[in-house]
Amino acid sequence: MLSIVVAKAKNNIIGKDNKLLWNLPEDLKHFKELTSGHTMIMGRKTFESLGRVLPNRKHIIFSQNPDFKVDDENVEVVHSLLQIQNLIEEKEEVFVIGGAMIYNFLMPYVKKMYVTEIEKDFEGDTFFPIIDSETWKETSREKGIRNEKNNLDYYFVTYERIK
Ligand SMILES: NC(=O)c1ccc[n+]([C@@H]2O[C@H](COP(=O)([O-])OP(=O)(O)OC[C@H]3O[C@@H](n4cnc5c(N)ncnc54)[C@H](OP(=O)(O)O)[C@@H]3O)[C@@H](O)[C@H]2O)c1
Repeated sequence: MLSIVVAKAKNNIIGKDNKLLWNLPEDLKHFKELTSGHTMIMGRKTFESLGRVLPNRKHIIFSQNPDFKVDDENVEVVHSLLQIQNLIEEKEEVFVIGGAMIYNFLMPYVKKMYVTEIEKDFEGDTFFPIIDSETWKETSREKGIRNEKNNLDYYFVTYERIK
């Protein structure tokens, strides 16, 4: 079962120049709690923006480049949907972590979304698709801690597919 994890601005921006735009350590902690011990699926650009292989998680990286290789036992590079068909069908939760190209590509197969909604517009070049209320039902919403290190208003919101 595929689940999306994303942090998005009020205007749906998720990044700029292959980087995140905000500093929210509480959201990184939330991401780590969700994904640790699981498999994550991402695009080649998002993998490059992570800058390293994250510990205790399997990384599946989409690329169209047959020469793109990562020499790490926790990384698998894939080129087609067929190669992740078993992950779509199995019960265990697998996390789709972006970026925009991969969210758009895999959205039809995703059953659940963990969305950090930041209550501010940002300027950027990469957008998350619109969350259509005919397809997705909000099932939980929790306000994130605001403090000196997390100086924004944001919510941890869960959506589940209803059709
Ligand atoms: N806020 C968040 O939660 C969040 C999360 C993740 C990323 N981001 C941001 O999003 C931005 C990156 O997103 P992006 O859309 O530019 O790139 P991306 O989705 O991370 O990666 C795009 C690359 O993935 C490969 N790819 C995409 N679709 C494919 C397919 N159908 N088959 C095979 N390979 C495929 C291609 O790699 P090749 O070019 O190698 O063929 C493509 O160039 C950055 O700014 C990042 O910081 C934000």
